[in-house]
Amino acid sequence: MTSTHTATATREPAAPAGTHAAAPLLPSILLVGSGKMGGAMLEGWLAQGLAPSVIVDRHRDSLPAPHRIVRAIADIPADFTPDVIVLAVKPQKADPALQDLAKRFPAATLLSVMAGRSIASLKAVYGGEKGLVVVRAMPNTPCLLGAGMSGLYAPPEATPEQKRHCESLLRAVGETVWVDAEGLIDSVTGVSGSGPAYVFLLAELLTKAGVEQGLPEETARILARETIYGAGRMLHTLPTDAAELRRNVTSPGGTTAAALAVLMADDAWPAATSAAVAAAVTRAKELSG
Ligand SMILES: NC(=O)c1ccc[n+]([C@@H]2O[C@H](COP(=O)([O-])OP(=O)(O)OC[C@H]3O[C@@H](n4cnc5c(N)ncnc54)[C@H](OP(=O)(O)O)[C@@H]3O)[C@@H](O)[C@H]2O)c1
Repeated sequence: MTSTHTATATREPAAPAGTHAAAPLLPSILLVGSGKMGGAMLEGWLAQGLAPSVIVDRHRDSLPAPHRIVRAIADIPADFTPDVIVLAVKPQKADPALQDLAKRFPAATLLSVMAGRSIASLKAVYGGEKGLVVVRAMPNTPCLLGAGMSGLYAPPEATPEQKRHCESLLRAVGETVWVDAEGLIDSVTGVSGSGPAYVFLLAELLTKAGVEQGLPEETARILARETIYGAGRMLHTLPTDAAELRRNVTSPGGTTAAALAVLMADDAWPAATSAAVAAAVTRAKELSG
């Protein structure tokens, strides 16, 4: 895996959605699909300053000027050509959208955030002979707060400008890493794409364990939530890696050591985490067909 953004000691997250940072203007986009993921990214892009763009959305009624909203791909204004088409529909709903897009934009840069749809499968639907360059990205839902994590892959034919445009869109909503093989996007899916759910599960389980140890549920919920937030901030902010941070808070023979001896047993978290991520990666590959 390669990264254009190596971890630094004091990274600051991108400006959260809703703030107006003086960031460079992002490329113009045609966004198709603004549900959970597309909508989260759109909030960040609007906050960061997007070149005049068009959103195809069947649910939203308005968009701040100069952006335009249309109900269907057929309604895209004739005078509009985006720098990047962002496709954020469910994988199984992509084909009709791709067929309509191909008629309107025979040559285009397509940024796909869909899990389990290969570049080859998207190009086959679009029309292989046409000038379509597909960049794949796997973001995650903290994009909503400007704290997303996205892996990107670009095929060799992508130009530096196409890669820069796509990266700038994902950078506007969090951190980015490039991977150098398309198959690794499935691995990104297993780690960070699905990863927020693993952390939410940890919060649920920690809350339950706190209740089992006599705490009121709301108290346990706050303890779990804020512990994960604080530990996440340490990981994000400090130059120290996770294993060292763990060792730093584990006194030999102490309470944390007692808990970690249970969690770190070979058949506990190490095995469960590896199996869970492998299951997500397998599912992503199955969806790719
Ligand atoms: N959610 C995540 O955590 C996450 C993380 C990484 C990647 N992704 C990827 O993001 C994609 C979208 O996931 P999601 O969770 O955001 O799904 P979602 O909430 O269902 O959003 C998809 C949106 O696309 C709209 N849509 C479908 N076909 C359309 C068309 N032809 N024109 C315009 N809009 C259209 C849907 O509208 P209707 O409801 O009217 O059909 C819906 O609003 C998926 O491919 C997924 O793999 C999601």
